[in-house]
Amino acid sequence: MLIVITGGTKGIGRATAIKFAQNKYDIALCSRNADDASTFAAELAALYSVKTLGMGADLSIKSDILAFGNAVLQKWENVDILVNNAGIFLAGPIFEEPDGHLEKMMETNLYSAYHLTRLLIGSLKNTGNGQIFNMCSIASFMAYPNGGSYSITKFALLGFSKVLRAELMGQNVKVTAVMPGATWSASWDGAPFPEERLMRAEEIASILFDTAQLHPTAVVEEIIIRPLLGDL
Ligand SMILES: NC(=O)c1ccc[n+]([C@@H]2O[C@H](COP(=O)([O-])OP(=O)(O)OC[C@H]3O[C@@H](n4cnc5c(N)ncnc54)[C@H](OP(=O)(O)O)[C@@H]3O)[C@@H](O)[C@H]2O)c1
Repeated sequence: MLIVITGGTKGIGRATAIKFAQNKYDIALCSRNADDASTFAAELAALYSVKTLGMGADLSIKSDILAFGNAVLQKWENVDILVNNAGIFLAGPIFEEPDGHLEKMMETNLYSAYHLTRLLIGSLKNTGNGQIFNMCSIASFMAYPNGGSYSITKFALLGFSKVLRAELMGQNVKVTAVMPGATWSASWDGAPFPEERLMRAEEIASILFDTAQLHPTAVVEEIIIRPLLGDL
C-alpha cells in the first residue's frame, strides 16, 4: 500500500507520514527543501522497514508537480492514497496584502492538488479502492479577519474536492475534504498562544488513517475538526 503526501516534512503532512509508515504503508513525500524530504524519507524507511521516496519539489510550479508525480509512478504501479496537503498561509486582508499573494497561494494550495490529482488518478483507480484527501481548512467555509486570499484558496480547494467527489462517484475512488481548525505546526511558531490551545498534528493524522480503513462501500466526504476551545 502506498500513500503520497505533498508537503510531507512538517506539521500535518509529517505526522501523517509517520502514522502510515508505522502501519506499514510505503510513503512518497515531497517538500521544497530537498534535504528535509530525502532525510525524512530515509528515516522512515529505516525505522519502519517500508519503501519511501523523499523528493525536493516546489509544488507551486507545474513542472515540479509533474516531476514528483512521475517519480512516484516510476517507483510504484498503484497509488492507494493521495494527500493533497502542501499549503502556505500568507496573512493579510485582501485590500492590504502585497500584490501576488493570491496567485502564490492559488498555485501552492489549489493548482498543486489539481495537477497532481490529474496525473495520479489512473493509478488511484487501479487499486479499486483509492482515497484522496484534500487538506482544506475551517477557512474553506468561513471567512475571518486577516484570512484574506488564504481563505479564497481554501474555499476553492473545497470546491475542487466536491467536483472530484461528484466525478469519481462510482469509480472506486473516495474523496474526503479535511477541514481542520488551528493545529500546531511550524507555521504557528512565534504565535502568542500556548501549544496546548491548538490541536496536535497527530490527531489529524489519526483521523486520516482511520478514515482510510473504512470498508470500500463507505466514504467520509467531509471532516471538520476544531480545537476544543474553539477557533483562534
Ligand atoms: N496548521 C493549521 O493550523 C492548519 C489548519 C487548517 C488547514 N491547514 C492546512 O494543512 C496543510 C498543512 O499545514 P501545516 O500547518 O502542517 O503546514 P507546515 O507545518 O507549514 O508544513 C507545510 C509542509 O508543506 C511543504 N510545502 C510548503 N509549500 C510547498 C510547496 N510549494 N511545494 C512543496 N511543498 C511545500 C513544507 O515544506 P517546505 O517548506 O520545505 O516546502 C512542509 O513540509 C496546509 O495545506 C494548511 O493550509 C493547516
